[in-house]
Amino acid sequence: MATIDQTQQDAEKLAAALAAVKFVKDGDIVGLGTGSTTTFAIKELGKRVKDGLKITAAASSIRTEELAKSLGIGILDLGTLSQIDISIDGADEFTETLDLIKGGGGALFREKIIASLSKNAIIITDASKKVKKLGAFTVPIEVIPLAYQYVSDQINKLGGKGILRSVGGKSYTTDNGNLIIDADFGLINDPAKLSSDLNQINGLLAHGLFVNTTSKVIMSEGTDIIVFE
Ligand code: A5P
Repeated sequence: MATIDQTQQDAEKLAAALAAVKFVKDGDIVGLGTGSTTTFAIKELGKRVKDGLKITAAASSIRTEELAKSLGIGILDLGTLSQIDISIDGADEFTETLDLIKGGGGALFREKIIASLSKNAIIITDASKKVKKLGAFTVPIEVIPLAYQYVSDQINKLGGKGILRSVGGKSYTTDNGNLIIDADFGLINDPAKLSSDLNQINGLLAHGLFVNTTSKVIMSEGTDIIVFE
């Protein structure tokens, strides 16, 4: 089995992040994703803000908000925004047709709101995230706790096998106070159909299939930057 070289992967994450941050300009409202790749972008934005870049931002998680604030990036209330100029976020898997699985870090709901509000939704990844078909990575699904069993049953009816995400023996709780089911649907032939089917389930707040929400994916591979749009 091939091992992933962590140093190489981090170098690719950083390169993709630096390429994306170049698109941010004075006056922009910037949507900030969550995860290790996005962290490189937020740190670079922090440097540029110290050098005089004038931006405000909306954060997709409490940890992103804390990081951004610590770097001097002003944070807006996501709930008050009608539009975001540009967003930068990571992905767990993506295809060349710009379908994504996101939510490995549990921030999928706010990430989806940010992607939906963004004029220019940029995804940044290392080369390991590119797949021919989505689904080797399970689909994270955020569930209102009292609907847990109902939603689990509906996932089963759609052919998925869900596992309640847990950390240290306790169920994982999102920033919104909800649970995550990680659902295995096998390789997904029709992400748009599955996304639509999942959207019909009452009590399911958001799922990690991102279809038609991405403007471009900036992927770094070795020393190359490859853009899918
Ligand atoms: C967070 O909820 C996720 O959607 C992340 O964007 C995704 O898991 C990618 O994370 P990394 O950049 O850490 O791989």
